[in-house]
Amino acid sequence: MESTNQHCMILLVLVLILACNVITASSASPASKRFHFNVEWKQVTRLCHTKSLLTVNGEYPGPTIAVHEGDNVEVKVTNRIAKNTTIHWHGIRQYRTAWADGPAYITQCPIRGGHTYTYKFNVVDQRGTLLWHAHFSWQRASVHGAFIIYPHLPYPFTPKIQAEIPIIFGEWWNADVDAVEGQMMYGGGPNSSNAYTINGLPGPLYPCSAKDTFVRAVEPGKTYMLRIINAALIDELFFAVANHTLKVVEIDAVYTKPFSTLAIMIAPGQTTNVLLTTNQAPDASGMFPMAAAPYLTSVFPFDNSTTLGFLKYKGPKSSDKNTKPSVVVPNLPKMTDTPFATKFLNKLRSLATPQYPCRVPKAIDRRVITTISLNLQDCPQNQTCKGYAGKRFYASMNNQSFVRPLMSILEGHYKNFTASQLTSTFPERPPKEYNFTGVDPLTENMNTEFGHKLLVVPFGTNLEIVLQDTSFLNPENHPIHVHGHNFFIVARGFGNYDANVDPASYNLVDPPERNTVAVPVGGWAAIRLKADNPGAWFIHCHLEQHTTWGLAMAFIVPNGPSPSQCLLPPPDDLPSC
Ligand SMILES: *[C@@H]1O[C@H](CO)[C@@H](O)[C@H](O)[C@H]1NC(C)=O
Ligand SMILES: *[C@@H]1O[C@H](CO)[C@@H](O)[C@H](O)[C@H]1NC(C)=O
Ligand SMILES: *[C@@H]1O[C@H](CO)[C@@H](O)[C@H](O)[C@H]1NC(C)=O
Ligand SMILES: *[C@@H]1O[C@H](CO)[C@@H](O)[C@H](O)[C@H]1NC(C)=O
Ligand SMILES: *[C@@H]1O[C@H](CO)[C@@H](O)[C@H](O)[C@H]1NC(C)=O
Ligand SMILES: *[C@@H]1O[C@H](CO)[C@@H](O)[C@H](O)[C@H]1NC(C)=O
Ligand SMILES: *[C@@H]1O[C@H](CO)[C@@H](O)[C@H](O)[C@H]1NC(C)=O
Repeated sequence: MESTNQHCMILLVLVLILACNVITASSASPASKRFHFNVEWKQVTRLCHTKSLLTVNGEYPGPTIAVHEGDNVEVKVTNRIAKNTTIHWHGIRQYRTAWADGPAYITQCPIRGGHTYTYKFNVVDQRGTLLWHAHFSWQRASVHGAFIIYPHLPYPFTPKIQAEIPIIFGEWWNADVDAVEGQMMYGGGPNSSNAYTINGLPGPLYPCSAKDTFVRAVEPGKTYMLRIINAALIDELFFAVANHTLKVVEIDAVYTKPFSTLAIMIAPGQTTNVLLTTNQAPDASGMFPMAAAPYLTSVFPFDNSTTLGFLKYKGPKSSDKNTKPSVVVPNLPKMTDTPFATKFLNKLRSLATPQYPCRVPKAIDRRVITTISLNLQDCPQNQTCKGYAGKRFYASMNNQSFVRPLMSILEGHYKNFTASQLTSTFPERPPKEYNFTGVDPLTENMNTEFGHKLLVVPFGTNLEIVLQDTSFLNPENHPIHVHGHNFFIVARGFGNYDANVDPASYNLVDPPERNTVAVPVGGWAAIRLKADNPGAWFIHCHLEQHTTWGLAMAFIVPNGPSPSQCLLPPPDDLPSC
């Protein structure tokens, strides 16, 4: 029965692809914005360590892309290094332009050294802050930047904004990041970074770093918009500004119901716009510290340091060079403060007004329940593995550890779905029922299966995915990112998901809409999306070592019935494998 269905599906896919070679001319003529990215090495010094850092145009963080809602965007990426690369426009829907999404071996083959690829896409019905980053091995550690979409309409919040302040969090390793990645392939966890950074600067709490501190001058009595981006490779973060509240107005380029908070939690891949009003009385230094430190849910060693920057109030009182600014941010939560993270995330709600409706699917066609798990894999022969008990760490979804194929899944799907091994189906339920968040880790068999099984969902499917953390090795808060679609977080909970009980408490009115969900440690999250974007789309943990270990999968959305619901043909300069 299953294989018959699958066969029908394949036929359907082929028929739709044949019907879709017509390209519809778009009626509007939006503005085109062109950018040129050179991926190149640059000597950069932090913490008194100078190293070759992979950058775009020699900048760290990379250049900001700023466009308006509705613009056509073209980014010509020239690879000037001897390694492969790709760039991902994180959170951009890429409607019909999956070819421009960027994850290596999912939607494209890598751009080889000396080669160029131009990413072309439209920015439609999205507004706010996103990010772009490399999507090949661990290059995004330093190859990342802000992606800002200015809205057509005025902001739906007050007061008026004086200026915008980008706040991009990153991680700095004194060592070469490729070496850190290489070392953990057969090992335990990756070496921790040496510092967190705000806009590339670690700040004064690290050795030899005081001169590399982000300081931003502000005028008293004004409101600023902080565009906060977590581009850190492997750490969720708390962020706060001393003595100031933050008013959250947007997440992942979607407006929210505004609320005030003393701090935020932000996972890698997530973005948060907050308003900050400079209404405090500064001390003689004129400086208010801001800080980011990790939200830790893992027992593994993590970088547990704190990056610090400053807001510097302008004014007559603020120029006393002899007064040392405070470096304490009293409202920054403790690194293990799961209750704070939970309360904060539960406050996020879609704006849900007629102008900005919340399009959460009220009914679903399909529910996929998948574990998100760490694993211990037997060591390959002739290797030494440095994980637990001579084994190596792995990770999985429904016991499948994703291994990238040596081709682009999207290309395989577009050209000849039946000819490739791409037809096997991803299990839609955990292969074994057990107490997911209660097992005694070391008594369990923690092996997985390697592969790249795909989930195929018909165009237009209202899909629910329940992401279930497990306590294999240790439970952890995993930020899961879905490509090509925003989703609605209809519920989150601790313990094991119960399909008979939990749907009753779903928020189907104003759930937060995002592209990356932080799944509670030892718990679950239920997300809903309408699978209406034809292509092949990656779903993965945005803690980079977990993706490397296989906590990932891909899903296919075939073309829809109308030509305007079809994947466009591949661009001429699409890299080949
Ligand atoms: C990781 O840390 C260990 C222990 O400090 C060190 O010996 C090793 O060289 C580090 N690896 C890299 C790639 O820096
Ligand atoms: C922040 O407020 C606290 C009391 O709430 C005060 O002790 C401290 O000096 C203030 N910090 C600055 C930088 O003004
Ligand atoms: C960070 O971790 C180190 C090593 O595990 C520990 O000694 C230190 O106390 C921790 N620091 C903080 C601020 O938690
Ligand atoms: C798909 O691949 C098979 C085997 O290589 C080939 O026989 C068939 O003609 C291809 N179909 C299409 C539509 O390209
Ligand atoms: C799962 O394990 C946890 C921790 O041991 C326990 O509290 C919980 O009751 C168990 N759940 C079920 C359904 O057995
Ligand atoms: C996962 O797959 C491996 C390899 O087939 C198997 O040994 C293990 O029992 C499976 N585990 C679960 C939880 O399904
Ligand atoms: C780059 O990617 C191509 C296509 O997958 C591969 O054949 C080649 O070996 C890679 N080059 C390097 C330097 O890794």
